[in-house]
Amino acid sequence: MDKFAITGGTVLEGEIPAGGSKNSALPALAAALLTAEPVTLRRIPRVRDIRTMQRLLVDIGCKVEAEGETVRLETPAIACPEAPYELVKTMRASSLVLGPLVARCGRARVSLPGGCAIGARPINLHIFGLEQLGARIEQSHGYIEAQAPEGLRGAPVHFDRITVTGTEDLMMAAVLAKGETVLRNAAREPEVADLACLLVAMGAEIEGAGTSTIRIQGVERLHGAVHEIIPDRIETGTFLIAGAITGGDVTVTGCAPEHLGALVSKLQQAGVDVTQPGAGSLRVRGGGRLRSVDMTTEEYPGFATDLQAQYMALMTQAGGIALIVETIFENRFMHAQELARMGANIRWDGKQAIVAGPRELTGAGVIASDLRASASLVLAALAARGETVIDRVYHIDRGYEKIETKLARVGARIRRVE
Ligand code: EPZ
Repeated sequence: MDKFAITGGTVLEGEIPAGGSKNSALPALAAALLTAEPVTLRRIPRVRDIRTMQRLLVDIGCKVEAEGETVRLETPAIACPEAPYELVKTMRASSLVLGPLVARCGRARVSLPGGCAIGARPINLHIFGLEQLGARIEQSHGYIEAQAPEGLRGAPVHFDRITVTGTEDLMMAAVLAKGETVLRNAAREPEVADLACLLVAMGAEIEGAGTSTIRIQGVERLHGAVHEIIPDRIETGTFLIAGAITGGDVTVTGCAPEHLGALVSKLQQAGVDVTQPGAGSLRVRGGGRLRSVDMTTEEYPGFATDLQAQYMALMTQAGGIALIVETIFENRFMHAQELARMGANIRWDGKQAIVAGPRELTGAGVIASDLRASASLVLAALAARGETVIDRVYHIDRGYEKIETKLARVGARIRRVE
């Protein structure tokens, strides 16, 4: 099991290129199931979750050819409309094949995702939406079986709560349904809008993606397309915080600044100098005294829950008290325990954490628990005195492509220990 050994105290300086968005690539890969024609996706990050999704698609009957960051997918027929537990338990986003499979071949057998470190994360809203579109769904032996032999028919779907992959799953189910589907209380994340952009390029009729109400007119069939995935806003935010926490000067290039408004605003309130040197880049210059600033996670365009752990690491170095409220998941403070072991002064319960600083962090042996928590530990280690060894970095490999190479390029003393 790989580990990271990080010696803190260096000031990061230089440019880091942003990769393609993992959370946009995953639904885009699933969307290729909706047509028999080839779909070519560019800027696909080479991370573990993408490899898992590609393996699932191959088992379903899709031909996948990956060359660098370009992936060509062709699904002449659905051989096996299933997402088995062995795969789903390693990646919950496998549920994104549910909508495309029911739309393409009228049935799907998808394992219910098991528990997850950060919360229960059920898919009841995905199931509810498909039932609204006429699918018959049964649950047994840990699987859901969806049937729609006569095809799906468009319908209004009002989500009880905002769900990113639920919105994406239903959008993909609706594009081949008969008639109009209106998704209300839909997720507004940029990844939803990016998926809609791909589907429209494939011949779908979608309006309102990126807003709370999305209208989809079903069409007979979709055709192939070529699409470039948007930059990863969470990776970008993670590197901006790396620059801030080390008091450095870091520019992330090839990113989408417009997707990071909430984080940029918080960093500026905290006393970090954030500028936009060019259309696709963001620059942070730290070094001044950091101020503690409260933060509450919210659905987009609010502060992303996927950046909460990284922000908490930064607040351990800020002068004062910061209240961090996590409203999206019920158990997303596991990094707090590890940060406390490094010397951070944090108190927390299920929903709220109070971070008092500044507190000098010292290197320690720590364990990664989930993807973004492990990113938070890397950031803390960069600011800590001495060496930190982070175990179970396979978590971080799920969503960050060669993070140690990108950070080392701007001066971090980080190495992977096989
Ligand atoms: C997506 O997960 C992201 N993953 C997550 O990123 C991200 O944290 C999350 O959205 C919130 O922004 C991908 O896009 C692949 P949700 P998703 O459905 O869609 C509850 C990362 O680090 N809910 O928006 O699974 C759910 O339990 C990952 O890259 C239901 O109750 O999240 C949660 O509390 C982690 N029933 C809330 O809604 C449902 O049917 C938001 O979940 C669906 C969700």
